[in-house]
Amino acid sequence: MIEMSEVYKTYPNGVLAINGIDIVINPGEFVYVVGPSGAGKSTFIKMMYREEKPSSGKIIINGIDLSTLKESKVPLLRRSIGVVFQDFKLLPKLTVFENVAFALEVIGENPRNIRKRVLDVLDLVQLKHKARFFPNELSGGEQQRVSIARSIVNNPSVMIADEPTGNLDPDTSWEIMHLFEEINNRGTTIVMATHNKEIVNTLKKRVIAVEDGKIVRDEARGEYGIYD
Ligand SMILES: Nc1ncnc2c1ncn2[C@@H]1O[C@H](COP(=O)(O)OP(=O)(O)OP(=O)(O)O)[C@@H](O)[C@H]1O
Ligand SMILES: [Mg+2]
Repeated sequence: MIEMSEVYKTYPNGVLAINGIDIVINPGEFVYVVGPSGAGKSTFIKMMYREEKPSSGKIIINGIDLSTLKESKVPLLRRSIGVVFQDFKLLPKLTVFENVAFALEVIGENPRNIRKRVLDVLDLVQLKHKARFFPNELSGGEQQRVSIARSIVNNPSVMIADEPTGNLDPDTSWEIMHLFEEINNRGTTIVMATHNKEIVNTLKKRVIAVEDGKIVRDEARGEYGIYD
């Protein structure tokens, strides 16, 4: 479960990016975060995996209170949260297999389990046959599928994605969305910031609209709205 209460975020330069957010996201939900550019969507998402700290307020993720979480415990939090970015953020000198295995190696998983788990998630994203390729040998959609495999290899209960289809063409974006649906159907909570109107209006889910750092709309099976 994700809970925020009275969350505010002012960046060091004085910009008030989040202006009082209260929200509960239950296990297994699929939530789109929409709103105009600069509304605070990425800031909202970054606070969930402690990339940014709120200036005040409470954030609880899977029972972990982020306001009192020590820096040394942040890796533990990140193990229960998979993160997917617009620009994939794969390590260029590692193969597909190694990029995905990395997350398990750092937690000291044994090599046999690593191999099995990595091949299982590469199978899910249909890239087992490219396990030995390097990121620059893949298309954008394939790179995003690798980053999705990496994000779920630890079996996180929550997946957070910031404009995961932002760099992809419409067909590839839909492939990625079908993968997200499958991951959600297996029980993972998904929170996804997006500007993709067609996806939000077709693949109906809960929609949270953020404007000027506030939630202005929160609807089950909502619409994208009238942003760019
Ligand atoms: N690191 C930062 N330092 C200072 N201000 C920031 C920082 N990151 C974001 N901001 C500001 O905070 C506000 C919210 O930004 P944020 O990136 O959360 O918006 P967004 O809704 O994700 O926008 P977009 O749709 O363009 O991605 C904006 O005014 C932005 O300029
Ligand atoms: Mg953003």
